[in-house]
Amino acid sequence: MSGATDNTMRLLDGVIDPVLAPLHALPAGAHVVQLACGTGGLSLALARRRGDLRITAVDLDHEVLDAGRAAAGREGLAVGFRRMDLARLEMGDGTADGVISRMGLFLPGTAPFDVAAREAARILRPGGVLSLATWSDLADSPYTGVGLPLLRRILPEGRVPRLEAMFRARPEELEEHLRAAGLQHVEGRWYEWRAEYPDFDAWWRFGTGIGPLAALFGRLDHDELARARQMMSEDLEQYRTTDGAYRLPARARVVTAQAAGPARNRPGARPYSRRNAPLSANSVE
Ligand SMILES: C[S@@+](CC[C@H](N)C(=O)[O-])C[C@H]1O[C@@H](n2cnc3c(N)ncnc32)[C@H](O)[C@@H]1O
Repeated sequence: MSGATDNTMRLLDGVIDPVLAPLHALPAGAHVVQLACGTGGLSLALARRRGDLRITAVDLDHEVLDAGRAAAGREGLAVGFRRMDLARLEMGDGTADGVISRMGLFLPGTAPFDVAAREAARILRPGGVLSLATWSDLADSPYTGVGLPLLRRILPEGRVPRLEAMFRARPEELEEHLRAAGLQHVEGRWYEWRAEYPDFDAWWRFGTGIGPLAALFGRLDHDELARARQMMSEDLEQYRTTDGAYRLPARARVVTAQAAGPARNRPGARPYSRRNAPLSANSVE
């Protein structure tokens, strides 16, 4: 895994458990589809836990798909990576027993939320389970929650784009899109965790060196960058552990739903419900 991917996963791996928990009752051979999979870390985690499932991970970007295939190959995990637009899935109706996504489905910039919800619902078989985590507020991810306010303190007014406009949808609206697409038992909740970085440099490379913030930090001159680093280190002092690591708080919206209709009558196949889903201690009701 590249250093950049590694540092991204320090944050995103925090939601593996809550997103995968609702799949625990799927029978052997069930088909699970991950939407906007990136390098497929969530699918790989599922494959490690449940080698008896058929897992397909889709994304638009060839590069991340290749990285995912390589990672699966290294571990001998059976995850099929396919290039596909989540707004136009090349999959038949009712062909998935589970649909999962981590900061992909309902992430601003990926696809219109109503279209994405309809596609996810279309490929789910009756009784199938959807489980996802997404950012629904820029302040909830330490990446944007720390980096953006800091840039605003350094750069003149107007030089930092108002990315907040992309996060206009209230959490409840995400759930409404799923209900409108015909899904049932739609439930959303907040999930909180801490992303751990072994030292300041690992955080700095992630928080300033990748994604949309890399371009903004890249525009700072030498002195501004030195100031940014100093301010960042002061801002993060509160999250520093005694061994010099940093544990930053993160919060995401975790949403589960079920396709209308009976669960397939196979051993172990129970419809998903909050009663049979193991709830994490990190759930915020
Ligand atoms: C934040 S990354 C997702 C991280 C990834 N899900 C993970 O868990 O590691 C967003 C991903 O959405 C993908 N994407 C954006 N628009 C898409 C679309 N319309 N269909 C499929 N994938 C899309 C991007 O290529 C990118 O890999």
